[in-house]
Amino acid sequence: MFARRQKRLFQLDPRLRLCASMVRSGGTVADIGTDHAYLPIWLARNGLVEKAIAADIHLGPLQKAAMNVKRHLVQDLVDTRLSDGLDQVFAHEADDIVMAGMGGETIAAIIQKAPWLKQKEKQLILQPMTCAKELREFLAGEGYAVCEERAVLSDDRVYSVMRVEYDPQKVPSHPLYPYIGLLDPSLPESQQYIDRERGHLQKKADGLKIAGNLPEASRFARLADALQEFLDSSAAAF
Ligand SMILES: C[S@@+](CC[C@H](N)C(=O)[O-])C[C@H]1O[C@@H](n2cnc3c(N)ncnc32)[C@H](O)[C@@H]1O
Repeated sequence: MFARRQKRLFQLDPRLRLCASMVRSGGTVADIGTDHAYLPIWLARNGLVEKAIAADIHLGPLQKAAMNVKRHLVQDLVDTRLSDGLDQVFAHEADDIVMAGMGGETIAAIIQKAPWLKQKEKQLILQPMTCAKELREFLAGEGYAVCEERAVLSDDRVYSVMRVEYDPQKVPSHPLYPYIGLLDPSLPESQQYIDRERGHLQKKADGLKIAGNLPEASRFARLADALQEFLDSSAAAF
């Protein structure tokens, strides 16, 4: 079996590679919203996980996942499962839970339905496609702390990946935190992410101004300015 697994393995794209780099080596992982199951297959084939669950809510993606798992000869390590979020995953089965490529609101709803995630040995690796601000606010409200966050450029788009643990004492409270998380502004990918968020805030401010809502327009304009100052001050520091 080992010899057959030497067959050439695909490379993960930079976004999934960053998610994979945050998974603890030698542990158990559940990839929720797995689709093609590339992440758990890659982790298994590289000997980085003891056991993985590749879960998806839809049968089509799950069948694709099962086919890929078989093709890459990791059926003994990667279990495919039809599951809405973590509904069909037991707490003892996974210490690291990855949710990548889904909307931030879907990710928040999945976390909300699984209170067992609030255990100190559990770690969440989250990569929202949308609504990252709402996800960060939800996590903070529930006592989940982002311990590490990094931006990555993949397919000409910048994404943020967060490593999260339940630790109400460490929940960040900076006013810009919901918009830019814990990104390190000295890194070019972070700068790109922060600048994109600044642009969104400025656009929102402009729209509100046209609609005549001046108090809200100036609130969003101040946030956009604060992000610009954050970028400028970190550029000056380097
Ligand atoms: C765009 S794909 C992301 C695939 C992969 N995780 C990645 O990042 O490349 C999103 C997948 O999430 C699945 N999904 C959406 N909502 C879900 C839920 N509540 N529970 C499990 N899977 C879900 C979809 O069926 C789809 O296959």
